[in-house]
Amino acid sequence: MNDDIRSKISNRYKSVLLQGDSNGLFMTNYEVAADHLAKRIGESLEKPSVAEICCGVGATTISISKIAGKVFAIDKNIERIKSAKENIMKIENRADVIFLCTDAFSQLSRERYDQVDVVIADPDWSWKGHKKSDHTTALAHTRPDTEKLHKMLVRMDKKNIIYRMALAMPDEEIRKLGDCEIEVVIIDDDPKFKYVYFGELKQGIETRIELKS
Ligand SMILES: C[S@@+](CC[C@H](N)C(=O)[O-])C[C@H]1O[C@@H](n2cnc3c(N)ncnc32)[C@H](O)[C@@H]1O
Repeated sequence: MNDDIRSKISNRYKSVLLQGDSNGLFMTNYEVAADHLAKRIGESLEKPSVAEICCGVGATTISISKIAGKVFAIDKNIERIKSAKENIMKIENRADVIFLCTDAFSQLSRERYDQVDVVIADPDWSWKGHKKSDHTTALAHTRPDTEKLHKMLVRMDKKNIIYRMALAMPDEEIRKLGDCEIEVVIIDDDPKFKYVYFGELKQGIETRIELKS
């Protein structure tokens, strides 16, 4: 991994030295933002069971596991699942975390969504054929396809859903999914991405959170 990526990651995640492939680390969440998400969930639900789709190398999983009763962490990339398992072993007092290497739409995944209080998805925003830093502005182009995923979750009667979305994703596009809160996450005065909350997790319509790394 080059020094540039390594220094970006160590800025994002401070308490655990995350292991993983360079793409997985490039896409990883910020520790303060993952902790904020966990806090938001914990404010609405006590010890919830959570299915986390697109766990990647496990940055968000670490924070969620501190407030959850049980976590199913799902990613279709076996190397990321291996790294996420190693990364979560570095923390204490975590909930039971079960890692599944499978697609977001597989039968195995759907059986887990059926069992949980909250579903979180952190899809890949990069756009095939474009630079990695160019993010798609269409829900259907995220991987997995967030539009299709959301339809499936709603059909399954899931209510408490969270997505992590690129800043580039227009609010009008996100609101096609239904009644939700769109929270802009600002870290060290820099807007980074959006969290989208549905169901009991929704606390407003258009909100902002300012965090310090
Ligand atoms: C933005 S990264 C996740 C970052 C991670 N949540 C973190 O905090 O470190 C997106 C992940 O989505 C996974 N992914 C993409 N399409 C998927 C699918 N159809 N099913 C399951 N995982 C998928 C990729 O392998 C990648 O690890």
